[in-house]
Amino acid sequence: MNSLVRIVQTDLDASVASFRSAMRQLAGGVSVITVGRDKDISGMTVTSVTSLSAEPPSLLVCINRSSSSWPLFEKYGAFAVNILNGDQQDIADRFTGRGGATGAARFDGAQWTTLATGVPVLADGLAGIDCKIEEVIHRHSHAIVIGRVAAVRVAGQTAALAYWQGEYVALDRDQDAVRLAAVSLPSGYGKP
Ligand SMILES: Cc1cc2nc3c(=O)[nH]c(=O)nc-3n(C[C@H](O)[C@H](O)[C@H](O)COP(=O)(O)O)c2cc1C
Repeated sequence: MNSLVRIVQTDLDASVASFRSAMRQLAGGVSVITVGRDKDISGMTVTSVTSLSAEPPSLLVCINRSSSSWPLFEKYGAFAVNILNGDQQDIADRFTGRGGATGAARFDGAQWTTLATGVPVLADGLAGIDCKIEEVIHRHSHAIVIGRVAAVRVAGQTAALAYWQGEYVALDRDQDAVRLAAVSLPSGYGKP
């Protein structure tokens, strides 16, 4: 395995607060990562999903190893990425642990199915991507988890859910197009 780890000068670190404030400017697509089987399941909301390669199909996600879901990644060696649609902010909230639900209780109130690995996949997300874990790289507080895609399920186009500057934002192509037309057309346009 090729790997290059540089020992960086830690006295050059930016402050945590300034780094957080910069990262708040990065709009991220919101997904729920699910792990486990049957009743032994959990999951968490993330924005760190990134496509790695198309051939073979693979992606990566960064997971805090102190999260309650982490032991199930290690136990079952599989996970699913559920890309949320613009109406699924309540699911995103539940899977951050807000409201106190843990484990299987986070799945209540939504429809789930399975694809190849047996991990629960949201029935009506924008897309579900079922992965076997190919490699885990431990770095700082997190694990960089590389998933080899075993199966996908893609829904029809609806609005996407993003997170930007500390808030959820629904990205709706139709509504955004209407808004864009309203600001870009000269005033009086279309009037007889
Ligand atoms: C918008 C958003 C994005 C998040 N992205 C990540 C992420 O990429 N990786 C991660 O480990 N935690 C991320 N979190 C935090 C986890 O959702 C949260 O810590 C976890 O679900 C709660 O952990 P628990 O299962 O131990 O209760 C994110 C939270 C929010 C609100």
